[in-house]
Amino acid sequence: MRRIDDVLRLESTELKSFCGSSLKMGSVLWPMVKVWRPSLQYRICAGQCNIARVLSIRYRAVLRSMTSPQASFRLPPGPKEPVALGIDPETLQTLRQLQQQYGDMVSLTQPNGRLAYFINDAAEVRRILARRHAKYRKGPGFERVKMLLGNGLIVSDGDVWRRSRRMIQPAFSRQNIHGLLDVMVDCSERRASHWQTLVANNEQCNITAETSDFALELILISIFGPDYESRILTEGENPFAFLSRDSKRDLSVVMKVRHLRELLTSIIEDRRAAAATDQFDFLTMYLQAEDKDGQPFSNKELLDELMTLIVAGFETSANTLSWVWHLISKHPDVETKLIAEAREHMPNAAAISVEALTAMTYTQQVLEETLRLYPPVWLFTRRCNEADELDNFDVPPGTDIYLSPFVLQRSEHYWSDPERFDPDRFAISDKAKKDRPFFPFSLGPRRCVGEYFSFMEMKVHLGLLLPRFSMLRTDHNEPDLELGINLRSAEDIFLKPQER
Ligand code: HEM
Repeated sequence: MRRIDDVLRLESTELKSFCGSSLKMGSVLWPMVKVWRPSLQYRICAGQCNIARVLSIRYRAVLRSMTSPQASFRLPPGPKEPVALGIDPETLQTLRQLQQQYGDMVSLTQPNGRLAYFINDAAEVRRILARRHAKYRKGPGFERVKMLLGNGLIVSDGDVWRRSRRMIQPAFSRQNIHGLLDVMVDCSERRASHWQTLVANNEQCNITAETSDFALELILISIFGPDYESRILTEGENPFAFLSRDSKRDLSVVMKVRHLRELLTSIIEDRRAAAATDQFDFLTMYLQAEDKDGQPFSNKELLDELMTLIVAGFETSANTLSWVWHLISKHPDVETKLIAEAREHMPNAAAISVEALTAMTYTQQVLEETLRLYPPVWLFTRRCNEADELDNFDVPPGTDIYLSPFVLQRSEHYWSDPERFDPDRFAISDKAKKDRPFFPFSLGPRRCVGEYFSFMEMKVHLGLLLPRFSMLRTDHNEPDLELGINLRSAEDIFLKPQER
């Protein structure tokens, strides 16, 4: 259990906004009363800082004001004491313990008094993300993402999200993504040249940095086309690189983000001012997009959407690729099959085609199995905005929902020997796949728009590089996990490259 000052440090914005709005939202409060227990009251009152005391007083005032009898809710089992959940490593441990102790539907009270459910049942997860998605909005943790990305597609909700998604979706048609195939090949070829230099100098390869550079360069060229070279590379060190390298979340990062937004604004303004071109990149497509009233994105909206696309579009693929290289280095049998498939379908860069990539089914299996074990978005949160019912339990409005692909995709209940890396699990019919929880790209209307793009980029990367380079393990340690907004290895992974 965290101490109260830790909790407040992590969740003070949430607490403040809850206290501000709770007086108006009587219906949200009942679950709080129901799960309110002396231990929670004690914890908050006993907090050493003033904010805790103030909050405690406000909560109690609110609770006292609730006099009318309330309907009782059917809540799943759960711990009596408040539990702090966040997007951090302790949370994974806590979620696993909760599942072991209470089963697949767990209710708990968070230190801010808000009711939360941890749901670990495949059918209920599908229900929340897909069939009943309209009853849920994005949940806790997104405030922090909002600070970086503004109100772009990942964090927006309701009508704002619906409008943006409709405007953006066409840019991600398969036909458009196929138009970016050459960029994917060029970015992979540039890695090959760099890896040749590493081999010649007998150097190790920091595969975490390499896959990150590959995916970042790819998404930036896909968005900005020729402006990548003329406006971004001219900045000296790639001004976006810190997004993946810099784990600090301090003032220097705020300044860097501000600089990025200025740079993007000037690129957007110049593009608007320039005569229309037949240029093919995401920025052109976003600039041409119109809503149902014929309105384009404003500069501010475009800025948020571009920041979202950059951040969402590279770290996820980069992390997946770095786990793939790590897993391949441990599984020579998988490596042999991958090389054979790549040599058959992509004997050289010129032979790469959409048909060749579609035919690389074993590579697809390896990527899916990697995403099962290491889903980059390891924890989803939602907040219920309209009363719902799940598995005979009530979900009162205001309830926070936690869903973890990481936990469910490693659950023995659905996967045999779940910790084992076995790409053959995915060599089955789509019908059989449907019953297993596998949602690294989410499900339903908010499913990732970049899924097809990412599978194509990862297949091109592996298909071109794996037949040319082997990556040998430099030690036999398993990388520790860093569980932030994205799942990555705690330390960069180093491998020893050799040309085949
Ligand atoms: C392995 C690669 C990737 C994974 C695992 C992944 C995963 C996800 C997940 C889980 C979500 C939904 C999050 C939630 O509902 O809370 C999401 C949303 C999104 N992703 Fe991806 N992503 C990947 C690659 C990409 C790429 C390459 C792009 C862009 C080129 C992209 C753009 C987006 C966008 C814009 C959204 C927001 C969609 C919406 O809410 O309407 N992603 N992604």
